[in-house]
Amino acid sequence: MILAPRKREQILPLPVVLISTVSGGGVRNVAPWSNITPILRPLEEIVVASWIKRDTLDNIRATGEFVVSVPAAGMAEAVMACAKNYPPEEDEFVQAGLSPRPSRKLKAPGVEGCLAWAECVLVEEISRKNYSLVIGRVIHLEADDRFFNQAGEMDYETAKPLSVVLGEKGMWFTRPVFAGRYAEYAEMFIGGKDGAASSGGRD
Ligand SMILES: Cc1cc2nc3c(=O)[nH]c(=O)nc-3n(C[C@H](O)[C@H](O)[C@H](O)COP(=O)(O)O)c2cc1C
Repeated sequence: MILAPRKREQILPLPVVLISTVSGGGVRNVAPWSNITPILRPLEEIVVASWIKRDTLDNIRATGEFVVSVPAAGMAEAVMACAKNYPPEEDEFVQAGLSPRPSRKLKAPGVEGCLAWAECVLVEEISRKNYSLVIGRVIHLEADDRFFNQAGEMDYETAKPLSVVLGEKGMWFTRPVFAGRYAEYAEMFIGGKDGAASSGGRD
């Protein structure tokens, strides 16, 4: 099957996060985002793809900051509540019934009840005609220790992080389950040694 251009995004399961910001005038905003990826390891920078007409993008431009909160699967209703295109003067925490979680380093709050919170500052915006790629530096990151062990690993069976598979007219909210195989990073390296780990470059 050859997928038409407007169906191509349906081949990839995507993460779901909530991005919270404040406007230049101090109005709080929160919206779901799936086009987001860490830029390699360790998670120092993150890239977010945004359509031009987004209050989130306007706020990031105005304040230079945003918070990425990672919701659990049980939060799908809240995710859809803040997906609505409220006007910029509406406080979307209030509209969506979400509780703000004060950030350590930023004015913008995270979202209470999530699994992890990454406080980010704008590093660069790569502008295209209809969309922008926003590169942020993660300046502070916290995770709920009920769902992460001492090594910082997520217990995803308990945490149930939210993801999504896109369809023709809607989207299925999903969550990751174990596929039956655990692999150590060392397996990727002939001789079992990650030479890049000490030299700075990573996989
Ligand atoms: C699961 C999900 C993922 C989304 N991912 C994106 C995305 O990656 N980029 C984007 O521009 N909009 C995305 N949206 C749409 C925005 O969340 C939506 O337009 C929202 O109203 C934007 O709010 P804002 O104008 O307050 O920023 C997504 C919506 C949902 C429900």
